[in-house]
Amino acid sequence: MIPRPFVLKYFPLVPSRGRGCKLYDEAGKEYIDLTSGAATYIVGFNHPDVVREVVEQVENLFNYTTLYFYNRPSIELARKLVDLAPGHFPKKVVFGFSGSDAMEIALTASLNYARRRKLVSFTESFHGTLVLSASVSGIIRDVLGDQGGPWYKDVVFVEYPNPYRNKWGVDGYEKPGELTSLALKELEEALRAAGDVAAIVIEPVQGDAGVVVPPKDFVKEVAVLAGERGSLLVVDEAQTGLGRTGAWWGIEHYGVAPDVLVSAKALGGGFPLSAVVARSDVLEALPRAGLGFTNMGHAVSCRAGLATIRVIEREGLVERARVLGDYLARRLREVQEKHPVIGDVRGLGLMVGVEVVEDQRSRRPSRAKALKVAWSAWRKGVITTPLGRHGNVLRLTPPLNIPLEDLEKAVTVLEDAVKDVEEGRVPDEAVEGVEGWGSWS
Ligand SMILES: Cc1ncc(COP(=O)(O)O)c(C=O)c1O
Repeated sequence: MIPRPFVLKYFPLVPSRGRGCKLYDEAGKEYIDLTSGAATYIVGFNHPDVVREVVEQVENLFNYTTLYFYNRPSIELARKLVDLAPGHFPKKVVFGFSGSDAMEIALTASLNYARRRKLVSFTESFHGTLVLSASVSGIIRDVLGDQGGPWYKDVVFVEYPNPYRNKWGVDGYEKPGELTSLALKELEEALRAAGDVAAIVIEPVQGDAGVVVPPKDFVKEVAVLAGERGSLLVVDEAQTGLGRTGAWWGIEHYGVAPDVLVSAKALGGGFPLSAVVARSDVLEALPRAGLGFTNMGHAVSCRAGLATIRVIEREGLVERARVLGDYLARRLREVQEKHPVIGDVRGLGLMVGVEVVEDQRSRRPSRAKALKVAWSAWRKGVITTPLGRHGNVLRLTPPLNIPLEDLEKAVTVLEDAVKDVEEGRVPDEAVEGVEGWGSWS
């Protein structure tokens, strides 16, 4: 019924109920969802405070188009986002429904404002699947090439400095300075060659590339270079926003205030919602009515978003993401020491990646083993989905309020799953039909 290009199925699972970090299938089997629904349910499934606000909104009025009149939840959420976003300059907010459309708005606004045509983006990045957002997505362009598109042609890609795996063969954990210099040199040359660049587009931590955390100085210097050349800095916080990394926004770790910030996924608390929070002058430069949707700033989604932000504030979840993230990474590194198929454990806050390899020495990516670990964990009641250019990185993005005992239980299950794979207890046939992210390569 659903065309194949629109699905990336991992396991035969039909979620039917969710509470907190727990998901239940139609037969009532319980799972701990370490992905929180593709990094969406940041305060867990069906948080009672979010449910209450949504029900109240639904009972009063689903929505009325914000293009004609005003709706209180969208204005309140816009004000909240302006307060939360870094940078002491006038900002405004445009709402969309997904990360892809928010990136489309962000890039259209940037191109209009700058009156330049070129965009610079990074290898293995993912920003969405509409024309502009897909065109700046390194991972999509790399894999689909001429088969994909239509592409916006004026995009230049430069290497995102992945400390574990990069084209220079530099160990970026041992030598972050060297990796930073090489990546900056490439970026500077690309900027010089491209001439007038409207915007540099970056994820503060690459998500779908497999949770790649660049050296701290790199991102700071990217912002400096953008400023010097009159290019806008567009930061995609679809995955890293709303406390996920232990700060309200991932970009805050680098002390940078972007011209344009994109929020999605967790923003709607599970309802379709995204936002572009940007310098007022950039958004005001768009032609009137050139970019509007009937249901933008939908009242139910905005209500859910406001409730989600209040939960994050009230439950101190930004700080909790930092503390639990450190704990999770430490526990997984203990597991890594005992198991050669875990090549790398990395992350920022509760956004953690576990890279599965043939063995730690060769660092050869193993999608098959990553899928087998995920398959075995799923059978034991823990959900994780491998991602990345090679489909071999388990991205762990649990809700920020996951109880410690559930997190610990999940780590134990993951270790058992790794043992199952290392000791040959997961047959090849188990994952033969699995598609998943990376199945296209
Ligand atoms: C960083 C980033 N930007 C944009 C998107 C696209 O968001 P959506 O799938 O909601 O369109 C994603 C989705 O994974 C993402 O991770």
